[in-house]
Amino acid sequence: MKKIRKAVFPVAGMGTRFLPATKANPKEMLPIVDKPLIQYAAEEAEEAGVTSLVFVTGRNKRSIPDHFDKAYELESELKEAGKTTLLQKVQNVLPADVSCIYLRQAEALGLGHAVLCAEPVVADEPFAVILADDLIRGEDDVGAIAQMAKVYERYQCSVILVEEVPQEETGKYGIVEVENDDGETAIMTSIVEKPKPEDAPSNLAVVGRYILTPRIFELIKETGRGAGGEIQLTDAIAELLKYEKVRVYRVKGKRYDCGSKLGYLEATVEYGLSHQELGDDFRQYLNELSKEL
Ligand code: G1P
Repeated sequence: MKKIRKAVFPVAGMGTRFLPATKANPKEMLPIVDKPLIQYAAEEAEEAGVTSLVFVTGRNKRSIPDHFDKAYELESELKEAGKTTLLQKVQNVLPADVSCIYLRQAEALGLGHAVLCAEPVVADEPFAVILADDLIRGEDDVGAIAQMAKVYERYQCSVILVEEVPQEETGKYGIVEVENDDGETAIMTSIVEKPKPEDAPSNLAVVGRYILTPRIFELIKETGRGAGGEIQLTDAIAELLKYEKVRVYRVKGKRYDCGSKLGYLEATVEYGLSHQELGDDFRQYLNELSKEL
């Protein structure tokens, strides 16, 4: 069985919900405390054994390749100033055995189309897809992709990460129906993109992590425009169900919807509280602040 060695990061979106912050800077570069969202996503993939990070980028995304590149000037200045901890932080952004591949998605035609752009690089291997604005803190420090890779190894099929959401929010997500649910993993029987609450078959929502078999590429090519006029990955997964088993997996840990301002603030507060250097001071500050609220 082939291991998951490649992860695809669709990062061509416009980030309209965070304007004007995302006017010149991609939303994936927004920091949670001191690391950009895309770095959390890359580390999650690396932890699961991924060695090729495949970024599907668009205009205004230059700072992503810059972030994962060597920064000669900065590194030599930090070295000269004897700032070794900072130097390590900068150098550790990309481990030596991991490489980055950048592809340009010229038109924003949807998530399915973005994933299809990665076909020449992924070819006939199973691969992960990570949406960096869903930030996931895995239980016991085991990231979502590492958890899903275990399920993939056990059942040897595509695995989609899900979470229960309030019924009124189904219109924001891909929604699945399942059978043989053991509370952790289940067999997917249907999937639909962004149904209205009254039409949603359940409240089990897809949350930004996929392990997919390469057959998905053929199916995306045949997928027409769906919800929002976009080529949806969800629709191609619905087709995949006709040929292969697909499993859903409920994440162990906590997801922050950093594509929304509230989710972003929640992540900032909670990652701040558990931050090694400033956690204690921040907790004290919040305690005092809460007395004034
Ligand atoms: C995408 C997917 C959707 C999924 C969601 C998770 O939607 O199309 O199926 O539930 O990510 O965050 P988007 O948030 O890009 O509109």
